Amino acid sequence: MVHRQGNRPLLTWPLIILSLLSLVSATRVSPFDFRVRPELHSDRSPEPQGPQSYAASESAWPSFREAPVFRNGRRCAFVNRTGNDTCDPNSVHIAMTLDVEYLRGSIAAIFSILKHTACPENVIFHFFAANRDEELRFLVCSIFPFLRFKVYHFDEALVNSRISPSVRPALDHPLNYARSYMSDILEPCIQRVIYLDSDLIVVDDIVKLWGTKLGPHAIGAPEYCHTNMTKYFTDAFWANRTLSRIFDGKKPCYFNTGVMVMDMTKWRIANYRAEIEHWMGVQSRTRIYELGSLPPFLLVFGGLVEPIDHRWNQHGLGGDNLEGKCRSLHPGPVSLLHWSGKGKPWIRIDQKKTCPVDSLWVPYDLLLSPLSYQ
Ligand SMILES: *[C@@H]1O[C@H](CO)[C@@H](O)[C@H](O)[C@H]1NC(C)=O
Ligand SMILES: *[C@@H]1O[C@H](CO)[C@@H](O)[C@H](O)[C@H]1NC(C)=O
Ligand SMILES: *[C@@H]1O[C@H](CO)[C@@H](O)[C@H](O)[C@H]1NC(C)=O
Ligand SMILES: *[C@@H]1O[C@H](CO)[C@@H](O)[C@H](O)[C@H]1NC(C)=O
Repeated sequence: MVHRQGNRPLLTWPLIILSLLSLVSATRVSPFDFRVRPELHSDRSPEPQGPQSYAASESAWPSFREAPVFRNGRRCAFVNRTGNDTCDPNSVHIAMTLDVEYLRGSIAAIFSILKHTACPENVIFHFFAANRDEELRFLVCSIFPFLRFKVYHFDEALVNSRISPSVRPALDHPLNYARSYMSDILEPCIQRVIYLDSDLIVVDDIVKLWGTKLGPHAIGAPEYCHTNMTKYFTDAFWANRTLSRIFDGKKPCYFNTGVMVMDMTKWRIANYRAEIEHWMGVQSRTRIYELGSLPPFLLVFGGLVEPIDHRWNQHGLGGDNLEGKCRSLHPGPVSLLHWSGKGKPWIRIDQKKTCPVDSLWVPYDLLLSPLSYQ
C-alpha cells in the first residue's frame, strides 16, 4: 500500500518500512538503536575476526540506556575544551580496553567513574579496541553523549605471536596486552595514565587516584606482599638462575595489573614495553609462568612498584581463575571493586547465579533489559 508522496521516489516508503522492520527484528529495540543504527549500517566494519568475537549478526549488540550528563563541580581545574584538551595538563587520562565480551563491564566502569568524580568533564577516556572500533565508538557515544574519549585501534598481530596459552583462555586475549603498548599508542604529550580493567567499578573520586605520587617508579598499584611469589612462576623459572636473578636484591610483591597508575614518560625512557616482550619471548621457549599478561609485569616491575592504598583495588571478587566461587569483600575502606578472577557480575546475573557482592555492581549496569521493552 504505497502512495506517491509529492515528488519523492516511489521506493522511499517501502524502503523505510523495510529497514524499520529489519531493525525491529534484528535488535532489541531501544530509542538509542534508532539513533545509532543508520550510522552502523553505513559504516559496517569487516567481519569480526577470531573466535572471541561475537558472530557477524548485528543482533549481538546489546542495548544500553543513555547515562545522565555529569558536570564539573566548582573546584575543578580548568580545562580548555575548545583547544587541544588531550594535552591539557589538567586532564585526567583513563585507559581501558573495549570489546564486545566485556562491553557491559566497561560501560558500568565508565558510569561508575563519572558518577563519583567531582570533575567528570576533566576525565578523558582512551579505549583500545581490536575489532569493530567504529561501532564501539558510536555505541559509547550514544550511551555517554557528553563523554570525552578516543578509540584507538589495537593491532592484535602485535602480540598474537608472543602469547603462550595460559590456565584460562580469557587471559590470553590479545587485548589484555594492550596495557603494555599504551606508551606507543597514546599521544606523546600524555605523561600519566590510569589503566583500568573492564570488570571493576570505582566508587570514589578517581581524581584522588590520579594524584598519587609515584616517587622514582614508573607504575603505582596496590601491592600484596603477603602472597608467596613462588607460585606465580614455574619450577623451571626458579631453577634457572639466569632467569630468577631478576628478583635478586628486590622485594617483589604481587600486584594486580588491572589497576595501575602509569608514568608514561618514565615508561618510554626505560622502554618497558621491550622488557615485557622479552619475558614473553622467554615464556614462549620455556614455560616460566601459568597466568596470562600478569607475570611479565611481575618480572619487570616486581619490587619497583609504588604502593597505593589497598582501597583502590578490592580484587578477586570474581573468585578464583578456575571455578569462580563467590568471594566476600576484604575488610577496610573501598574505593574500587574489582571482579578479577573467573566470575563476572554481568554473566552471573544473566545466569541467575549471582554472588552477594554482585549487588554492588548492579546499580552501574546500564544494559537495557530486553524485558523492559516488551
Ligand atoms: C582555548 O583554546 C582556544 C584554542 O586553542 C583559544 O583560542 C582560547 O583562547 C582558549 N580559551 C581560554 C579561555 O583559554
Ligand atoms: C595536540 O597537541 C599535541 C602536541 O602538542 C599533538 O601531538 C597532538 O597531535 C595534538 N592533537 C590534536 C588532536 O591536535
Ligand atoms: C613459598 O612457597 C614455597 C613453595 O610453595 C615454599 O618453599 C617457600 O618457603 C614459601 N616462601 C615463604 C616466604 O613462605
Ligand atoms: C636459563 O634461561 C636462559 C635464558 O632463557 C637460557 O638461555 C638457558 O639455556 C637456561 N638454562 C637452563 C639450564 O635451562
